[in-house]
Amino acid sequence: MHRIAVLTSGGDSPGMNPAIRAVTRTALHAGCEVFGVYRGYAGLIQNDMRRLEYKDVGGIIQRGGTMLLTARSPEFMTPAGREKAMENLRWHGIEGLVVIGGDGSLRGAAALTAEHGLPTICLPGTIDNDMYGTDMSIGADTALNTVLEAIDKIKDTASSHQRAFIIETMGRHSGYLALMGGLAGGAEAILIPEIPDTTIEDVVEVIKRSFRKGKTNCVIVAAEGAHLNAQTIQDQINQIDAEESGFSFSFRTRATILGHIQRGGSPSAFDRTLATRLGSGAVELLLSGKNGGLVGMQSRKLTVTPYDEVLANPKVLDAKLYELSKILDRY
Ligand code: F6P
Repeated sequence: MHRIAVLTSGGDSPGMNPAIRAVTRTALHAGCEVFGVYRGYAGLIQNDMRRLEYKDVGGIIQRGGTMLLTARSPEFMTPAGREKAMENLRWHGIEGLVVIGGDGSLRGAAALTAEHGLPTICLPGTIDNDMYGTDMSIGADTALNTVLEAIDKIKDTASSHQRAFIIETMGRHSGYLALMGGLAGGAEAILIPEIPDTTIEDVVEVIKRSFRKGKTNCVIVAAEGAHLNAQTIQDQINQIDAEESGFSFSFRTRATILGHIQRGGSPSAFDRTLATRLGSGAVELLLSGKNGGLVGMQSRKLTVTPYDEVLANPKVLDAKLYELSKILDRY
């Protein structure tokens, strides 16, 4: 293989830049040319790519986002879109592709390999940490630290006003950021889509209990995909008659939706090293003739999981940690 391409696709995640750097420099070191594709699969369809040299990926290891830009491309979901993409790859003489992104991006790579026989390898790049075949995806650790910083800050103002806060984390259908953020931030309750066992009455009880015990704040962390999200919880609590329910004025709640702040920022040391190892591993695999899978890190070892297996299996959240959070938050 003499020429490969690399692209980032879907939602950006901190660590994509170190991954691009590792892919590019590992390939160049092995004597292989590298093309960077701009705006993910959309750029592949529009032939928006150019050669990358050592210096092109200099000074990006500490930068959030992705220097190659990213997009979600509905056209690439169609066979005609993928045919156009293949024409451009053939025209440039590109023999292999490294895709950095989440589940949707992996599906695109799998389709290129299955329909056109193009060797592809995927790197897990998503803050959601919802991909089977890797313990951590690139960006999840940085996002988790952002969530934690927000929880700590919100606790300061919550304590000053004796308020309850419902903090909503991203994650689509995954509760990873909420669970780990809540656990690390000492939240009084955590709501995640994987275990929808908390009712609005439970949340109200948790808040009441906190203030009965003389706590100065109460923090509830809810994943955006949970059965009750932050806005719903706040709306329902606001409808509760304060007198009747025993809520006092100081139990007023505020909802904070953290949003896209979780996707930005300089990648953590963990994400930089993970991205570097996975990026370099992906190129070594491609050049040694292996492809059609997700490169991940499992139990600190580099692994490759075939696309079919990644797509057929949900990433399982550690239910024991959820139980642990309940035990710790009871007091
Ligand atoms: O997959 C990453 C993610 O940030 C999810 O957590 C979230 O649900 C989604 O992307 C938001 O997408 P967009 O940036 O298109 O609004």
